Order: sequence, then C-alpha cells, then structure tokens
Amino acid sequence: STRQVWWLHGARDGTEHPFAKESRDLIAALPNAKSTVYYSRPTDTDRQGVDYLEASRLSAEPVRRLDLPTDADAYLCGPAAFMDSLTAALVDCGLDASRVHTEIFGAGPAITPGIKGASTAPAPHQPAGPPGTGPEVSFARSGLTIPWNDAQESLLELAEACDVPVQWSCRTGVCHTCELALMSGTVNYSPDPVEPPAEGNILICCSKPEGGVVLDL
Ligand code: FES
Repeated sequence: STRQVWWLHGARDGTEHPFAKESRDLIAALPNAKSTVYYSRPTDTDRQGVDYLEASRLSAEPVRRLDLPTDADAYLCGPAAFMDSLTAALVDCGLDASRVHTEIFGAGPAITPGIKGASTAPAPHQPAGPPGTGPEVSFARSGLTIPWNDAQESLLELAEACDVPVQWSCRTGVCHTCELALMSGTVNYSPDPVEPPAEGNILICCSKPEGGVVLDL
C-alpha cells in the first residue's frame, strides 16, 4: 500500500515493547509509513533512534508536535484514560472525532450481569421497522420472541434493537464478553471466533441463527 501510515507506540522500555521487531519490519516494508515510538523510561540498552525516538510518554503533548494529517483515520488501543486524553489531543489537532476509533486494552468498567442497576432503560420490546421473515429468535429471560431479520448483522444487534440487556466489548469474536448459553438451536458465525466458546454457549456478537434459537437473555 502506498497510503500514508503513522505508527505511534508507547511503552515503558524495550523489555515491555511487544512485537517490536515485527512492527518495525512491517513499517519498513511500506513506502509511506512513519514510526514514532516513545519509551517513558528507556533502559541503558535501549537505543535512541533505533528502538525508540523520544524518552517520553505517548501522550497529548508529543502527539500535538507531530503535525499529523487532519484527514486521517486514527485507531487507538490502550487503557481508557490514555485513549480519552489522546482522542482529545487528536481532535484538538484537527481530526474529525468520528474518525477516531478506540479499543480498550486493559481493565474496563466492572461487568455485573444479573444485577439490576438504577437504569431507566426501556423494557425489552419488538424492534422498530417491518418484522423479519427469518427463523424465530427467543430471548428467554426477556420473554420476547422475534422473527430474525437479515437487516441485522448479528444476534447482538438484534438484542440491542429490542433493548434486551447485553454485554459486549470487541464485537468481533475475540474477547468473549458477549458469551452466553444457547438454550436451543444452532448458529452460524461470521467472522469465526478466535477461540470457540464453552460447550453449549455462543458468542452473539458474530453469530446469526441457523434456525429457531432460544437464548439465555
Ligand atoms: S463482544 Fe467480544 S467476543 Fe463478542
């Protein structure tokens, strides 16, 4: 690809820099890629100019100095506080907020399935729009049965359209946050989960019903 790629990475030092050589080699193979690596506390064996560029945290201040293209798409991965401050910095640099995409790396807020919060979320209901013509999807705990609609990309999307309480994180079959019991029926996956769910469970973020299904939701 001849597209511009800016690779920004922050680590404490070279011992905490995963895939350092792999990412360096991949970036070197792209004609218009730039790499900027920050070590907050480089060790004596870390080589400035080779392993890292600057002894600093990857934070708003150095990013503002980079003169990033303002029409870029940004993909951030890291702890929530890091992504919040970097998102603000990128928007400050002129990027459109809708083009800054984030994925949490590290602990997220607590997930407390089965505990009813003080939420004012509406009760589960039929989805808006014309009914689907596919097999029946039953949300057992919510007492809701709906014909599958191919307009939905996944069972998770259908549950969300019905305000059925769900939990999720990656939405691509990686984290298993959306894993739950399939009480009957079978599903198809797209994409396939990185690791299969436990026996009798499914990942609803990347699956669709093959026939009628009953979900523990
Ligand atoms: S939300 Fe991560 S696997 Fe489904």
